[in-house]
Amino acid sequence: MDKLVIEGGAPLKGRVRVSGSKNAALPILLAALLPDGEVTLENVPDLRDIKTTYRLLELLGCQVENGAGVVRVTAGKDLQPEAPYELVRTMRASVLCLGPLLARLGRATVALPGGGAIGARPVDLHLRGLEKMGASFVMEHGNIKGKCKRLKGAQINFDFPTVGGTENLLMAAATAKGETVLENAAREPEIIDLANFLVACGARIEGQGTSVIRIQGVDRLSPCRYRIMPDRIEAGTYLVAGAITGGNLMIEDCPLEALDAVATKLIQMGVRIEEKKDGVQVSRKGRLQAVDVTTQPFPGFPTDMQAQVMALLCTAEGSAVIRETIFENRFMHVLELVRLGADIKLSGQSAVVRGVDRLVGAPVMASDLRASASLVLAGLAAKGTTEVRRIYHLDRGYEHMERKLSAVGARIRRERDES
Ligand code: EPZ
Repeated sequence: MDKLVIEGGAPLKGRVRVSGSKNAALPILLAALLPDGEVTLENVPDLRDIKTTYRLLELLGCQVENGAGVVRVTAGKDLQPEAPYELVRTMRASVLCLGPLLARLGRATVALPGGGAIGARPVDLHLRGLEKMGASFVMEHGNIKGKCKRLKGAQINFDFPTVGGTENLLMAAATAKGETVLENAAREPEIIDLANFLVACGARIEGQGTSVIRIQGVDRLSPCRYRIMPDRIEAGTYLVAGAITGGNLMIEDCPLEALDAVATKLIQMGVRIEEKKDGVQVSRKGRLQAVDVTTQPFPGFPTDMQAQVMALLCTAEGSAVIRETIFENRFMHVLELVRLGADIKLSGQSAVVRGVDRLVGAPVMASDLRASASLVLAGLAAKGTTEVRRIYHLDRGYEHMERKLSAVGARIRRERDES
């Protein structure tokens, strides 16, 4: 396993380029199962979860050629309908192959994903929606086994605006017979990107980005060439990196319009965010002020930025309450931040963060993707040396983070972790 060793205190200055979005690339790669022929995707990030998705596609019988951000996926005639546990347990998003496999083959066997570190993360809303489209499921030895004739359009109302559920149903509905209406659908920008990819393949979709999405099923989709949107959560993480170190960063390919709730909060804290012609500039003057944060489905404050903004609040003036309403266990970074000298009290789904003058470096342990980002951010600001262990969590969703940070002045290096 690897660790990151960080000497804190250096203000970050210079230019950082945002990579392609992990949470758009994942569903779009699996949607490439739908058309017959070669799909070409650009701006695909080089991440652990993306490599896992390539392996899943190959296990399902696809050809995958990956070269420098451009990936070609060919779903031929001999597709297999099974996503095995040893792969699904490493990446919950594998469940997104359910919709495409049912649409393409009329059958699918996907290991029940189990929870991740951040919570139980069931898929009941995915299955209920697919059942309304004519699929039937049995649970067998920890696998979800689904089958259907040709899926048919249905009216589906989600109890919760589930991102993955909306994505699975979008992919299932694209070639179903008749119209599907998704109500209380997720509105995340990655949903729009997936819908735009499907439209580029010939799907007929309206309302993506709103709570009601209408899909007129078509008989078949054709392969296309598509460019993945930039990663708004990576971009948000670098906005915080510029602010927490008191530096001055220019963030290239920053999808600021997809980060409105985050930018609004950061500006309320006193962070300066300016849109320039070649990127988004982030800096700050003096100490930041604490503001309360509550995570919500898009367009509210994203849960995937909660750990990062908590790191920033650790050294702001005053106290802030952070409420996590999406996942039931997404405060694993709190005790590690406390090891760095943060003053945080947990009560249920809320954390009260009291700003301290300075964090102090220490060895800490990453537990999940965004928690590890939070610890790196805190380490960049802390006095002295911080070691972040188990950074395979970080590698799931951040492309070459230590390289990007070193290039703008961070004193950070990756080392083997023999402990
Ligand atoms: C997606 O996860 C993202 N993952 C997550 O990002 C993100 O945190 C989440 O959306 C919320 O924005 C990918 O896109 C690959 P949900 P997903 O379905 O689809 C409950 C990261 O850091 N729920 O909107 O799993 C569920 O338990 C990752 O990049 C059900 O109860 O999110 C959770 O509490 C972490 N039943 C909540 O809804 C269901 O059938 C949100 O889940 C589905 C979900």
